[in-house]
Amino acid sequence: MTEPLLHLAGIGLSFAGNTVLQDVSFAVQEGRVASLIGPNGAGKTSLFNCITGFYRPRAGRISFAGQDLRRLKPHRITAAGIARTFQNLRLFREMTVLENVMSGMHCRTRAGAIGAILRLASQRREEEEIRAVAHECLAFVGVADERDRIATTLPYGHQRRVEIARALATRPRLLLLDEPAAGLNGGEKRELIGLIRSIRDQRAITILLIEHDTGLVMRVSERVSVLDHGQMIAEGTPREIQTDPRVIEAYLGSDEDADALL
Ligand SMILES: Nc1ncnc2c1ncn2[C@@H]1O[C@H](COP(=O)(O)OP(=O)(O)O)[C@@H](O)[C@H]1O
Ligand SMILES: [Mg+2]
Repeated sequence: MTEPLLHLAGIGLSFAGNTVLQDVSFAVQEGRVASLIGPNGAGKTSLFNCITGFYRPRAGRISFAGQDLRRLKPHRITAAGIARTFQNLRLFREMTVLENVMSGMHCRTRAGAIGAILRLASQRREEEEIRAVAHECLAFVGVADERDRIATTLPYGHQRRVEIARALATRPRLLLLDEPAAGLNGGEKRELIGLIRSIRDQRAITILLIEHDTGLVMRVSERVSVLDHGQMIAEGTPREIQTDPRVIEAYLGSDEDADALL
């Protein structure tokens, strides 16, 4: 098998003596939609936070496209080609849709603090480039018509799309989506499945998805990994996962989550 795009080995994370992740190993092959599922509190978002440099695991290795990510700051990890969306929307309140997407692209700008003179021409050109890329990403997710509205006044499903556009604008090679279907209705979920597939197929971006809606996960993913109490308990195709006794057990142990799997 080819070298995975993302590779985690033996990840351990704890807070004040509470173990959140224990010896988690995990790989994502390039060009796939891979999903990470598991009951609430299993450690899924924490794993995203380790990959993106928001959390520092106490043990283990994380490599992306052959590069060691462990000591990199979050903005460097974005620049290396990993983008994410958040479980709870994090759009800037006073900004328009377009400005929100542009705000995600600082990692790609060259004009820094150096040289007020140089800034004039090159920065203006750069600003135009950024605006064009942001607009193209908004068109891709289907909300370009709303680019001048204040982002937080959009319907919820459209705000989720703006977040995806903001992540795409950083030109990632790997996109991490944290519960993108939360709060969406049935029609919006079907559209999301189409959007995820087109991100993979048209933009050649690998996707790692955390999602509570198991039906959606089973339809869109090639591989599914299951986290329970901070440990990886199963990995396989959607069909293998749905019939894995350990997975059923993990979900049945939690009333709230049991319906999600069945
Ligand atoms: N910054 C933090 N400080 C303390 N505990 C945390 C922190 N982040 C996550 N946790 C704990 O880690 C566990 C897993 O949380 P999380 O990763 O959000 O789970 P999931 O996304 O699977 O629902 C929870 O018990 C949570 O309270
Ligand atoms: Mg979470």
